[in-house]
Amino acid sequence: MSNPILQAQNLHKRYEKVHAVQGISFDIQQGEIFSLLGPNGAGKTTTISMLSCLLSATEGDAVIDGHSVGTQADAVKRVIGVVPQEIALYPDLTARENLMFWGKMYSLSGAHLKQRVAETLEIAGLSDRANEKVETYSGGMKRRINIAVGLLHEPKVLFMDEPTVGIDPQSRRRILDTVLELNQRGLTVLYTTHYMEEAAELSRRIGIVDHGKLIALGTQDELTKLVGERDTVRIGISSVNDTDALLAALTKLSGVDHAALEEDELVLQATNANAHLSQIIGAIGAAGGQVKSIKVAEPNLEAVFLHLTGRALRD
Ligand SMILES: Nc1ncnc2c1ncn2[C@@H]1O[C@H](COP(=O)(O)OP(=O)(O)O)[C@@H](O)[C@H]1O
Ligand SMILES: [Mg+2]
Repeated sequence: MSNPILQAQNLHKRYEKVHAVQGISFDIQQGEIFSLLGPNGAGKTTTISMLSCLLSATEGDAVIDGHSVGTQADAVKRVIGVVPQEIALYPDLTARENLMFWGKMYSLSGAHLKQRVAETLEIAGLSDRANEKVETYSGGMKRRINIAVGLLHEPKVLFMDEPTVGIDPQSRRRILDTVLELNQRGLTVLYTTHYMEEAAELSRRIGIVDHGKLIALGTQDELTKLVGERDTVRIGISSVNDTDALLAALTKLSGVDHAALEEDELVLQATNANAHLSQIIGAIGAAGGQVKSIKVAEPNLEAVFLHLTGRALRD
């Protein structure tokens, strides 16, 4: 399989004080959903902004459907659709009117514009509310208008930048289903998220980004193999005095490779965790801690991130 519709080549973005993107390269195959997974500040939005010609790259380029982002922005903009987290919507206009406005910005007009507005409202699941003012819409519905806007001019590739952040689970489910459906119809998608479950559900290949770098890229199987056979153990604890000392004691135990604290949950990477649970619980008890809950999970993308960075994906 090698038919890349997008090739990002050594993209860099330097600001005065921040090297936000530090040489990111990846290919996206025609027809795939490719996810960039990384925590806040990793450089996901900056990367998408460079690929969308909204921000010029300090170094590097990308080729999308045969056109250079650096030198052929107009051609690139015709083949890409962009779904940012927030777009400017007029609250006192209806969803349909907002879409008509954005369609004109994309140089659509007449019967074709009307038809595209109707079609994208349908895809976004907003047809029955299309004539209501946007100020009456929930956050999730506004996100769905963003998706409709991104699809108006029938792009070949859709960029979606964390489209589910801050919305309720039902709206999230709807958006994920819409992404899968659009992909079924042949749309290529570049999806960014800091939710491992979303990347895992939507995409076969995932790039993990952190501090402006692509630190791993592959299928989920390839990525989880990086962790080896290690399990993730999550232990809800309370009343530990010296957590640094506890973390140090835990990492000294045989089988335990990593220990970190996320709020009041210990997150450990351990080989054959179930065989070491009694020692782990003993160490917590010795530190004056109380165990509230224990969950053992086999390797997932969260574990991959922890393995590669020593930090949890969630900040
Ligand atoms: N206009 C800007 N000027 C300076 N620094 C910026 C600017 N935009 C983003 N950054 C910095 O670049 C890094 C990457 O940001 P961003 O691409 O928004 O990350 P993400 O989308 O993964 O959360 C962060 O450290 C952020 O503070
Ligand atoms: Mg972002």
